[in-house]
This record gives sequence, structure tokens and C-alpha cells, in this order.
Amino acid sequence: MSERRTRYPGPIAQAGTIPHSLIEQGFAEDEALAGVLDRYPAELFDINLYDYDEEGQVSLRTGARGRLNGAELLEAIKQGRLWVNLRGVETGWPELWAAAMAEFRKVETAYPGLKAVKNAGQLILSSPKARVPYHFDAAGVVLFHLRGRKRIYVYPGDEAHLPERAMEQVVSRQTTEELPYTLAFESDAQVMDLEPGQALTWPLYAPHRVENLDRFCVSLSMDFQTWPSRFRNGALYTNAVMRSRGGAPRQTDSMGQAELALRWAASLGLKRAGALKSKIAHYERQFEPEVGATDGAGALNN
Ligand SMILES: [Fe+2]
Repeated sequence: MSERRTRYPGPIAQAGTIPHSLIEQGFAEDEALAGVLDRYPAELFDINLYDYDEEGQVSLRTGARGRLNGAELLEAIKQGRLWVNLRGVETGWPELWAAAMAEFRKVETAYPGLKAVKNAGQLILSSPKARVPYHFDAAGVVLFHLRGRKRIYVYPGDEAHLPERAMEQVVSRQTTEELPYTLAFESDAQVMDLEPGQALTWPLYAPHRVENLDRFCVSLSMDFQTWPSRFRNGALYTNAVMRSRGGAPRQTDSMGQAELALRWAASLGLKRAGALKSKIAHYERQFEPEVGATDGAGALNN
């Protein structure tokens, strides 16, 4: 298949997997995971609990790190319905990061023209029934799957599934809302079941969602910027500022590289000047992980 599933240029035309060797290196075992949970800085944890209505619309509760030790927290995730994200793997688990960057070089080789200028990683530990809602990342992503099985739904990167106005809002941090989603999108998804030892990547910005397939899952999600993605993110930010001031900017998918670069340059000054204040709400923590509690979510102990 060589069908292009996105309106944006880039070397990745559609979702695909390549093998990786992070499991053989021991990064997916309980002992290693419990150890990293024990020593990981509390401020780098995101602990989420997602619920969905019949229309597939999501609501989110957020948890505090709490006081479980690493082994207990691991158990709470295995028993519960939690999605636990450890940000900043670059510094939080440098051994895993070094191994993952070596694997990333193979991804770059597999997609000629792919050249990252900045990479960052999140280690995701999630419960057997956890599901991540429809969203896009303003970056390229390689999802190194380490344990369990998950089903990834990747949608076309066209205006219907990925409206630029919504992208502007996300890139300029004007909303925590995910992209607009309807069940009608489901027939447009490229659906892939991810097994341990596979790394999945997809076209830059492609919307996606994830369902765990009844197993405790561990993945390293690596995001990366390329010069083209930086330019486009900057252009989306500049467009957001123009729109907030009553302008009607052209969509970035109609712009060439030179215009994107100019708008990126403009975004640097606008950001420095604080042109748009982040409107991302500060979530009040609603629970902390607890072994044996419903969904693994116990009462907060302040
Ligand atoms: Fe994502």
C-alpha cells in the first residue's frame, strides 16, 4: 500500500510498524518497572482515568501520585483502569532513553528523509481496559510497544478529521479539548494491533486513539520534531494569534516551506511577547492509585 493518509508532506505516508529490541534489553520486566516507579519524580507523573459515553465522548479524571511504592503502584495499574504517564524519560530513565534513541535511528533509516531535531519520551503504563481518547500530537510519534496488546486506530490527516482551527487551539494551548470526534470517523480508521517488540509510527499529526486489549500494557511513546514540523507548529501558533485578533489566516496546508518558515519565525517573537496566555485548566486531582479500589482509584490522602 502506498496510499497517502495525510494532507501534510513528510516521509511517513501511513501508519506502519518496525521491530525493536527494547524488551530483550530488560526494560519491560516488573522489577525494572517497579524500580523506575519508585524513583521517578512525582511531578513527572500524569495519572488519568478516562470514561466514555455511548457517543464515544470522553470525560477525564486525574490522579495524584499518592504514596504507593513502585511495586504497589504497578499492581494498582494491573488491577485498575488507569493510564499512567511518566514524562521526561530522557532524564528520568536515561538507560532506556539511550536504547530507544538507538532504535529511533533505525526508524529514521526506514523512512528516508526523516530527520528529527528534537526527541522526547513518555513511558506509559496502562491498565488492561484503559483507552486513550481521539487526539493528535503536534509532533511525530514512534510508539515502542513493550508489553501487553493494544489496538491503535489511526485516522486520515485531512480537514474533516483534523481541522486546522482545532490544531491552532491545541498548539497555542487555548484548550485542553481533544479534537472534535464522532463515531462516524470509525469507518475511516486504519486499525492496527500492536504486539510487544513492535514500534508503530504514523504520518505527522495524524489523529489516533488507543484501546488496550485486556492486558496490562507498557509502551514508550517517543515524540520528535523535524524542521518541517517545527515550522508548521510555529505557523499554526501564528495563525492562532492572528485569529484571536480578528484575522482570518490561510490554512498552513496551502503554504509552502518559505511561508511556513516565516510564520514560525514570527511565532518565536509572539511567544516571547506572551501573545496568547495558556488557557489550559489546572486539573484538581480527584483520586490516588490504590490496590483493590474500584478502577484502582482510591480516595485522596492529603
Ligand atoms: Fe498520541
